[in-house]
Amino acid sequence: CRVLGLPTGSTPVALYKEAIAGVRRGELDFSAVHTFNLDEYLGLPPEHPQSYRRFMAENLFNHVNIKAENIDFLSGLPAGIAAECARYEKAIQALGGIDLQILGIGRDGHIGFNEPGTSLASRTHEATLTQETIADNQRFFGAGEEVPRWSLTMGVGTILDAREILLLATGASKAEAVAAMIEGPVSSLCTASALQLHAKVTIIIDAAAAAR
Ligand code: GLP
Repeated sequence: CRVLGLPTGSTPVALYKEAIAGVRRGELDFSAVHTFNLDEYLGLPPEHPQSYRRFMAENLFNHVNIKAENIDFLSGLPAGIAAECARYEKAIQALGGIDLQILGIGRDGHIGFNEPGTSLASRTHEATLTQETIADNQRFFGAGEEVPRWSLTMGVGTILDAREILLLATGASKAEAVAAMIEGPVSSLCTASALQLHAKVTIIIDAAAAAR
C-alpha cells in the first residue's frame, strides 16, 4: 500500500500504536508511504495542541519512518478555502488516488466531518460541525477552550474514491451509528451508509459497537 487516508479521534489510536510497534520490529516501513488526513479544524494552526495535524504527529508520524514531504494535510488556516480544497483533491489525484482509506465514525454516523445532510457526492469542502460533534470533541480541549465549529474535510465522494476502506468503531455509543451504516438505508442522514455503495470495505467493531 502506497497512499493512505488517515483518521483522527480516539478510535484509531490503538491502530497507530500497533503501526509504531510494527515499524520498531522491522515489519512495517513507511519510507515510501504517502498520507492524506481526512479533515482539520478551521482556525487552528498546525502546531496547536488540538489540531489534527499535531494529533497525527504525536500519535503516529513522529514515531515512524515517514518522510515529512510525504505527509499532506488540509490547512487549518488556508489563504482561500475553495483553493485549499481543490489543491487537496488534485494532490490525491496526482498520487494516483488513495489505496487504503481508514475511517472512524461519529455518533451521528459521520465520516470525516461529513455531518448528516452532507451530499453523498461531496468533494473536499468546508463543513460545519453539529452540536453533538462539538460536545463529543470537547474532551480533547481544555476547560473554557472552545472546539472550532468549522472544518475542512474530504467529502463523502472523495472517501468513496479510495480503492479500499477500513472503518473502525468501538463502544456502545457507536452502536446506533454502526447499525444505521450497515443496515439502514443509504442516506445523507448517515453519511457512513454511503460505504454500502463501495465494493471493498472492511468494518472492524467490538461487541459493544455491534450491539444493535
Ligand atoms: C471526529 C473526526 C472523525 C472521527 C470521529 C469519532 O468527528 N472528524 O473522523 O471518526 O471524531 O471520533 P472517536 O474515534 O474519538 O470516537
